Amino acid sequence: MTTVKYSLEDFTHDTEALLESQPGNQQIFDKGSACLQRLINNPDSIPKDFRAPLGTGPRPNHASRMLYQGESGLQVTAVVWGAGDHVGPHDHRTWGMIGILENAITETRYRRVDDHDVDGYAKLEKDRTATFKPGEITLLIPVEDEIHQMDNHTDRPTVEIHVYGNDLRGMERNSFNLETGKITKFRTTKWDNC
Ligand SMILES: [Fe+2]
Repeated sequence: MTTVKYSLEDFTHDTEALLESQPGNQQIFDKGSACLQRLINNPDSIPKDFRAPLGTGPRPNHASRMLYQGESGLQVTAVVWGAGDHVGPHDHRTWGMIGILENAITETRYRRVDDHDVDGYAKLEKDRTATFKPGEITLLIPVEDEIHQMDNHTDRPTVEIHVYGNDLRGMERNSFNLETGKITKFRTTKWDNC
């Protein structure tokens, strides 16, 4: 018997159908992550060309390549963290699911603990650090648990599939300086969205 592999097209079809039913976040995470699990279990889920850092531009040791953008907002990208790649704490302003395809990523989660009453300032406390391996998924839950830092502490690229509820391109988001508390607003013009 031939087993048909669960493809990117299967995933976007099933996830769009799920979103059409106007689910709550819990349902998105329950059903959506089950679909993402099937997708990352397929070793051919993304093209081979999408598994290496860009090697050029402002972040040559990184890559975020668009796989799908739906009118619903559903956005799927292939993200590569090169050896030693790092991004500091930032938020996402939408739900997200990150599935690991190759190698490992270390994610540190932060909680915002100030009163939001000083413009441009946030006090963050570290919540937890975990290292995710192929076949594992980490969830971004707005507003309660969506600030993270990512590090590839290994000596080779890590490949992931990122799924978001909205098009992150152009969306105003926040990055955080842990030492000074300064918030820096940023917008990504392409899909540099991790
Ligand atoms: Fe992120």
